[in-house]
Amino acid sequence: MPSSSETPVRPGPETPAAGPPLAPAPLTRGTAPAAAAEAAGWQPRIIAFCCQYCAYSAADMAGSMRLQYPPEVEIVLLPCTGRFDVILALKAFERGADGVYVAGCLEGNCHFLDGNVRARKRVGLLKKELAAVGFEPERVEMYNLSASQGPRFAEIAREFTRRVSGLGPSPAGGGGQGGL
Ligand code: FES
Repeated sequence: MPSSSETPVRPGPETPAAGPPLAPAPLTRGTAPAAAAEAAGWQPRIIAFCCQYCAYSAADMAGSMRLQYPPEVEIVLLPCTGRFDVILALKAFERGADGVYVAGCLEGNCHFLDGNVRARKRVGLLKKELAAVGFEPERVEMYNLSASQGPRFAEIAREFTRRVSGLGPSPAGGGGQGGL
């Protein structure tokens, strides 16, 4: 894993590897206070589902500009955020993610017309479903940015990582041990 002084732009796998079927885990809010978890060496694990056009290009630009963002952010490349669905996010949480975000093109600029609009609706639906089972909806977010917004990509990564750090480890209990 690169140190925080390096620029950690790492292309992720195009899709998560197949894993065991989702099993309903007992979810409880606030399994461990964030401060205590960080004191124990916990670092949030973040999965960023990025479309291959704008968001991934912005990540690439952030790398070229040597902008720093947290190495805990792992990029999973999607052809378009329209390919994002709730199951992808649940698998990420099951396998140890503490937070998941989706980054796509600006609205109106999706290369597949409305993939990013559909993704935003799915993220909204996922937030509601997570809240219904006692899982903080703030662990999921949708962002839009253009290919030229490398600095914005780095800012989003920092902002979301800070947010999840404040929430503490995921109640799903993956503990960052799994992998996509
Ligand atoms: S191609 Fe980027 S969100 Fe659809």
